[in-house]
Amino acid sequence: MTTALITGATAGIGAAFARRLAAGGTSQSVGVGSGHNLVLVARDTERLQHQATELHDLHGIEAEVLTADLATDEGIAAVEKRLGDRTHPIDLLVNNAGFGNKGRFLDVSMGDELTMLKVHCEAVLRLTSAAVTGMRERGRGGVVNVSSVAAFVPRGTYGASKAWVVQFTQGVARDLTGSGVRLMVLCPGFTRTEFHSRAGMGTDNIPNWMWLDADKLVSAALSDLARGKVVSIPDPRYKALMGAVKLAPRGLLGGLTAKTGRKYGPK
Ligand SMILES: NC(=O)c1ccc[n+]([C@@H]2O[C@H](COP(=O)([O-])OP(=O)(O)OC[C@H]3O[C@@H](n4cnc5c(N)ncnc54)[C@H](OP(=O)(O)O)[C@@H]3O)[C@@H](O)[C@H]2O)c1
Repeated sequence: MTTALITGATAGIGAAFARRLAAGGTSQSVGVGSGHNLVLVARDTERLQHQATELHDLHGIEAEVLTADLATDEGIAAVEKRLGDRTHPIDLLVNNAGFGNKGRFLDVSMGDELTMLKVHCEAVLRLTSAAVTGMRERGRGGVVNVSSVAAFVPRGTYGASKAWVVQFTQGVARDLTGSGVRLMVLCPGFTRTEFHSRAGMGTDNIPNWMWLDADKLVSAALSDLARGKVVSIPDPRYKALMGAVKLAPRGLLGGLTAKTGRKYGPK
């Protein structure tokens, strides 16, 4: 049985990846038809253990728990070490952990901005490198880096960090063409998870039609991975929106996207 490591596995999109991969029938790119064994990474050990037990009992897979804070060097190093373990290889890495900050630029402390770059960029860089080194030697494997459609619009540090994830993944995917290792960047739109409440963001001004379901998003993403897509925007509504974004003037976009989904609750 193959093994997938998921960061930010306890909630939202990461938990949906864990459910889907444990249940199986997913990605040809990592050569599986049945469920994956899992390595679940996040900061909350109790929640990780509960999830690991539940997935083991439901699907008969092995689920390891790895508590790590990806905003720290020690946390990133612990996950790098697991990814580099050649006796228990990882076949699929999902770099999903992430968060939003409450407020616009200058409302957010420099410490919080730098933490975002650490989790969204440095952790993704280091974990991708640790994973693909062994995958290339084995001639097979996959990496899914979770970005956002915010990568394509002017949206402060969050959008800039997610744009880095898109560019980085496309570049490495190209470098590894023909190696048997696939990389894909996943760009979700607004998805119902804990993301907005954790960041203290109000969501009243986001119309209902813009919301995605995490389980459906993940199913579509894994189909895109199996088809060999490098950039996955797995919903027709957002595909159409992003097509329009390419044609719209940046100034107009900045005005629109600065407001959408950025209604903040009391500080
Ligand atoms: N929801 C959306 O609308 C949306 C849209 C586009 C992109 N995304 C992206 O999708 C990804 C997942 O977000 P989500 O919506 O599923 O959020 P979520 O429901 O808040 O889940 C975030 C997950 O990341 C973990 N995490 C957060 N900070 C971490 C850290 N420093 N170290 C290790 N784990 C950490 C959390 O667990 P612990 O707290 O236990 O560590 C949790 O498991 C993020 O990269 C986000 O930017 C989300």
